[in-house]
Amino acid sequence: MPEGGVIDSGESLSKKLSPPGLEYMVERILISRRCLSKRIQALAEKIVNDYRQVEEIQAVVILKGSAMFSADLIRAIYELDGPPIKIDFIRASSYKAEAESSGKVEILDDLSDNIAGKDVLILEDIVDTGLTLNYLKSYFLRQKGVKSLRICALLDKPSRRKKQIDLDYIGFEVPNYFVAGYGIDYAEHFRHLPFVITIKPSFLEGKKTGKCTGI
Ligand code: IMP
Repeated sequence: MPEGGVIDSGESLSKKLSPPGLEYMVERILISRRCLSKRIQALAEKIVNDYRQVEEIQAVVILKGSAMFSADLIRAIYELDGPPIKIDFIRASSYKAEAESSGKVEILDDLSDNIAGKDVLILEDIVDTGLTLNYLKSYFLRQKGVKSLRICALLDKPSRRKKQIDLDYIGFEVPNYFVAGYGIDYAEHFRHLPFVITIKPSFLEGKKTGKCTGI
């Protein structure tokens, strides 16, 4: 599997795999369960290797989209005898309920633990414009006083970048598709799917223009 490459599973989205009534939004499966699990295993191996001198990792899971990815990654790190991991959550958003970025980052729910002096690993579902991570990175470094900070993103859409951000670990690089599944939503739908799908561009286009797209 090419690192950071797009994985087209070639699977068709059967009715059983798609939430009933929402099939009209879904284009196809982009990343299968098998590919996700193989890539997460590889990410866990890298992380365990990089953090072998560290006593404890402080994971910061960016909700809600990173929940499923983080749960799998953290368990994979445990299975590889990685360092203990403290887990905290933050909810930040540069997106509202739709597919376009508002450009403004807000912290909706802040951390509950004190992460000062900790080796922080941010777990993000997808990096798009880079605005969210740029904001959180400077928030953690300047206001929270962390000891070290690394970022692990499951998906990266570099073609959409507005603010440069260095990512330490990337699961898959994807083109400019709107994706969902595996924790990631489209208007709160599809988070429960165990694979990553693409939303039909024609559906998103219809939303923008207000045209009916076969609903
Ligand atoms: P950024 O600040 O533009 O990098 O936005 C990152 C956030 O936007 C992610 O954590 C997601 O919540 C959301 N996002 C970006 N692209 C997608 C997508 O294709 N599908 C669903 N959410 C997305």
